[in-house]
Amino acid sequence: MLNISFWYYLLGSMSISQSSAAPKYLQEDEIVPECKDLLSTLPKEKGWAEPHLYKYQGFWYPAWQFQGVLECQQHFQAQDTDILLVSAPKCGTTWLKALAFTIINRNSHSIDDPGKHPLFYNNPHDLVHQIELESHIDNPIFNPSSPRLFATHLPYISLPKCAKNSECKLVYICRNPKDTFISLWHFMNELRLNHLASISLEVAFDKFCRGVSIFGPFWDHVSDYWEESRKRPNKVLFLKYEDMKEDPNLHVKRLAEFFGVPFSIEEATSGVVDGIIKLCSFENLSKLKVNKDGKLPSGVENKTFFRRGGVGDWKNYLWPVMVERLDYLTEEKFQGSGLHL
Ligand code: A3P
Repeated sequence: MLNISFWYYLLGSMSISQSSAAPKYLQEDEIVPECKDLLSTLPKEKGWAEPHLYKYQGFWYPAWQFQGVLECQQHFQAQDTDILLVSAPKCGTTWLKALAFTIINRNSHSIDDPGKHPLFYNNPHDLVHQIELESHIDNPIFNPSSPRLFATHLPYISLPKCAKNSECKLVYICRNPKDTFISLWHFMNELRLNHLASISLEVAFDKFCRGVSIFGPFWDHVSDYWEESRKRPNKVLFLKYEDMKEDPNLHVKRLAEFFGVPFSIEEATSGVVDGIIKLCSFENLSKLKVNKDGKLPSGVENKTFFRRGGVGDWKNYLWPVMVERLDYLTEEKFQGSGLHL
């Protein structure tokens, strides 16, 4: 099979009419035949920023992403010391990547001089790669350091078996569905192919509520990891974006402990935790040149990952009837689980 990032690079040299932030999508007629055959058997529906979404193992994917999911399931080799950052899209992946990278590498990349830190020159997505985009066996993306740090949007059911069965640790970040939806709606309209019209809030909302969104249904994604974190708390750390916003200090410490690299008393008293929080903050990262002008290899502009970075922006967009529908769904889906979003 061909690797998906190879396709990204290849397509980078082709002229496809796209909005400026749009990635160089793998077109539906360009995916490898074995993947195309399987795709043709799957339920499909019109997408948000792409022609179609396909339902595989209960979750929805655009064609280009689907090929990466299959490759990842076939080729990703988890190691016991790996750390996998997991999220549904727009739940705080970028932030978690920045924090995890900085915490784990704080000895080799000191935060004392932020101008020399890798985050000063790299978008967090360049430092921590998505396994469903780049896990082909021939792809040497994997950092040789231990622990290796990766990320994924894969739902629990579709994680490679080795990631579930090995000792590798998972950190899951979720976010309230109303802010997640608004963030996703903005993001997908930034990424859409030029020949596709932007998707209206109302149409996107209906799809989101019916679970038809990239890596959706959102609620199933969240609840599968929530259940797993309850069964195996040493394996899965479950975090909420809103809690992290409210008390970043506590959560940075929790992350370090979960990774097995807790802060020493000296670090705690010398301001290392606060320094990490500041370095990885929305305010700091979003104003860096790399995140204002840079692009990922896929062509996506780094600035699309930094919009407002707050809690409650949904109040500026959702009608009361929409709020009611989302709240009802959330209540219904998480009933009895002990999870409140
Ligand atoms: P908004 O669109 O609500 O602003 P993801 O990283 O999973 O794609 O999620 C993107 C969301 O996280 C966006 O939310 C983005 O602004 C926000 N975000 C990005 N970097 C952040 C940071 N360092 N701290 C807090 N939020 C951040």
